Amino acid sequence: MAAADAHQYLPRDGHGLAHDPFNAIVGPRPIGWISTVDAEGRRNLAPYSFFNAFNYTPPIVGFASTGWKDTVANIQATGVFCWNLATRDLAAAMNVTSAPAAPGQDEFDLAGLTPVASSLIAAPRVLESPVNFECRLTQSFKLTTAAGDEVETWMTFGEVVAVHIDRRLIRADGVYDAPAGEPILRWGGRGDYIAVEPAAMFELLRPTKADIPPLV
Ligand SMILES: Cc1cc2nc3c(=O)[nH]c(=O)nc-3n(C[C@H](O)[C@H](O)[C@H](O)COP(=O)(O)O)c2cc1C
Repeated sequence: MAAADAHQYLPRDGHGLAHDPFNAIVGPRPIGWISTVDAEGRRNLAPYSFFNAFNYTPPIVGFASTGWKDTVANIQATGVFCWNLATRDLAAAMNVTSAPAAPGQDEFDLAGLTPVASSLIAAPRVLESPVNFECRLTQSFKLTTAAGDEVETWMTFGEVVAVHIDRRLIRADGVYDAPAGEPILRWGGRGDYIAVEPAAMFELLRPTKADIPPLV
């Protein structure tokens, strides 16, 4: 793309468009649907799409909270959280759990979801969700700007210490059937999501050393 064909901007000066395209460009994003409890054991559940996986061994996931929110406060207090897969049939319930509920108000109740005890941690799992990761807090810190100024955004990382997968999502050959779970992803503007269609999948294996021409 030649510069003449580009809409260019410096984020600090504004994007000059009807809506900030940043979120729509960096997508689709998996949803970190995070269940926690506070120090008194009161339940909390909320979605975070600044979420991803960051390590295989041990498995580590993380998310960013733009502002100090109940989820972050609860994880700071208890050191644990549970991640739940947000699926197409749970989309409306997931959305309800994003409501700005008061601290201590139970979003499981608000959304009509069933909390079920985790095996290793105090935070409950969402029974209706087909995959849950029980996580222990590994790191949390505030983001900074390039100039070193603190941003009111908290990063939280956790090691996945226990995994629950609905057997319906494990194929006869032992492979996890990712599309069968019908995960939903955040993509596009306000309120836009995308569902995963198996037909949209394609395979691309990573190059090996043998594929690289020798240096001359
Ligand atoms: C799909 C979706 C994704 C969201 N992603 C984020 C996010 O990445 N970071 C964030 O701070 N808030 C995000 N929100 C908003 C929070 O869910 C909302 O502020 C919620 O009330 C926080 O709940 P809590 O205070 O119980 O933690 C998202 C909302 C939705 C519906």
